[in-house]
Amino acid sequence: MNQLKFRNAQKEDLNRCYEIETVSYQGDEAASKEKILKRIDGYPQGFVVLEINGEVAGFVNSGVCHQVVLSDENFKELIGHDESGGNIVIMSVVVHPDFQGNGYAHMLMQEFIKKMKGLNKQTIHLICQTELIKMYSSHGFSYQRQSDSDHGGLSWHEMVLKL
Ligand SMILES: CC(C)(COP(=O)(O)OP(=O)(O)OC[C@H]1O[C@@H](n2cnc3c(N)ncnc32)[C@H](O)[C@@H]1OP(=O)(O)O)[C@@H](O)C(=O)NCCC(=O)NCCS
Repeated sequence: MNQLKFRNAQKEDLNRCYEIETVSYQGDEAASKEKILKRIDGYPQGFVVLEINGEVAGFVNSGVCHQVVLSDENFKELIGHDESGGNIVIMSVVVHPDFQGNGYAHMLMQEFIKKMKGLNKQTIHLICQTELIKMYSSHGFSYQRQSDSDHGGLSWHEMVLKL
C-alpha cells in the first residue's frame, strides 16, 4: 500500500522538483532551477508537493497577485507576487512520468484547491494545453479564452476557478 503525503515544498526539494519538471515538461516549457527556487522561497504555502513512500512524485506551484496577467513571464519568477492578493496563479502542475496515470494530478489539484480555500483566496488561474481542459473542468475550472502566451512555442488556454 503506497503512503501518500501532501506538504509544502522546502529548499531540500529543489533538485528533485527540478528533475521532475525537466523530465515531464517538453523543451523550454520546463522552469529553470532558479525559478523553482524562487517559488519555494517566495511562496512555500502555494508550492504543494506529493510524496509517495517518502519520494516526491509531483507538485503544484503558484504565486499570488491582485491583478492577474497570465501572459506575464516575470510572474514565473514571482516578480509581482503579493501574498495579500486574492488571486492565485498556478505555474506548474506536474507528476513524474514514473507515477503518471494513477490519478495523482487529480489528488494534487484537490489538495491544492482545499489549501487555497483555507487561505481565503478568491480565484485560481492557470493556462493549459487543449488536452487538459477536461481535467481542470472536472475540478470546477471554467474556460476563459485562448491565451496570448506562446510559452514553449505552444498554444494555451486560460482557465479560472472561483473559490
Ligand atoms: C498532466 C499531468 C500532470 C497529469 O498527471 P497524472 O498524474 O498522470 O494525471 P491523472 O492520472 O491524475 O489524470 C488526470 C486526468 O487527466 C487526463 N490526462 C492526463 N494527461 C493527459 C494528456 N496528456 N492528454 C489528455 N488527457 C490527459 C487523464 O486521462 C485523467 O483524466 P480522467 O480523470 O478523465 O481519466 C502529467 O501528465 C504531467 O506532469 N505532464 C507534464 C506537465 C504538464 O503538462 N502539466 C500540465 C500543465 S497545465
